[in-house]
Amino acid sequence: MNIVILTGAGISAESGLGTFRDEGGLWSQYDLEEVATPEGFSRNPGLVHEFYNLRRANCRSAQPNAAHFALAELEAKHDGNFLIVTQNVDDLHQRAGSRNVLQMHGELDKARCIYCSSNWAAPDVMTSQGRCPKCWSRGCRPDVVWFGEQVRFLSEIEAAIRKADLFAMIGTSAQVSPASEFMQLARDHGADTVEMNLEPSAVSMTAREVILGPATEVVPRWVEALLSGHRASPNE
Ligand code: OAD
Ligand code: ZN
Repeated sequence: MNIVILTGAGISAESGLGTFRDEGGLWSQYDLEEVATPEGFSRNPGLVHEFYNLRRANCRSAQPNAAHFALAELEAKHDGNFLIVTQNVDDLHQRAGSRNVLQMHGELDKARCIYCSSNWAAPDVMTSQGRCPKCWSRGCRPDVVWFGEQVRFLSEIEAAIRKADLFAMIGTSAQVSPASEFMQLARDHGADTVEMNLEPSAVSMTAREVILGPATEVVPRWVEALLSGHRASPNE
C-alpha cells in the first residue's frame, strides 16, 4: 500500500507553533503581503527577517508532539511507500524521526542567497546585512517559499499522489494552492481519502472520512487503528 500524508500548521499547533488562519493566527497578527511575498521583502527586508527570526526561535525551542511521532512510527512499521508532504517550514516531522519528508514551502532552518541561490544553515538571527558564504553578497533571505513563488517538489509530489492508495490530510485549512488540490487529485486517482482537522477544511467534502479533533489525539488513534488493521475500508 502506498501512503501519502499532507500536513499543515495544525499538526504543529500543539507544539506551540502558531497556525495562520485560526482565530489569533499569524495572519491576524502580521500582514501576509508584507512578510510572505517577494515584494514585501524588497520593500522591507528587516521586517521580513524579524518575522522569520521569531518563527525560527519558536521552532528551535519547540518539540515534536504525539501526532508527529505517530506518523514517524507509521512510516517505520508500514510495509510500502510512505511520503509526508508538508506545507510547514518547521522541522518537527524530521525531529520526530520521519525520513521521507518533502517540505513544499521550504525550510525555516536554512538561508538562501538571492544572487547565487546557494543555501546554508540559517543562523539564529538573520539580517539584511548578512553575507552569502559563497559569493559574499548581501542578499540573504529565508529559504522558504513566498506567495507568488513556485512551491518545491511539485512533480514528485503529484506523481506520489497519483500512485497513492491512501491519502490523509492533517491540520491544514486547504486554502492555499496547490496543496489545496491534492485531496481531489488523490481521489481522482482512486485513493482512499481521510482528513484530520480541528475544524472542517475547504475540501472536507472530498474526503471519504473526516475526523475532527486535536492532532495529538486523533492522529495517534488513527495510526494505531491502521497498524492493527482495524481501519474501515471505503467498501465496508
Ligand atoms: P492554516 O492556519 O490555514 O490552517 C490550520 C488548520 O489546522 C485549520 O484547518 C485548523 O482547523 C487546523 N488546526 C488547528 N489546530 C489544530 C490542532 N491542534 N489539531 C489539528 N488541527 C488543527 O494553516 P495551513 O493550512 O498549514 O504558507 O496554511 C497553509 C499555508 O498558508 C502555510 O504553509 C503558509 C500559509 O500562508 C506560506 O507562508 C507560503
Ligand atoms: Zn551568494
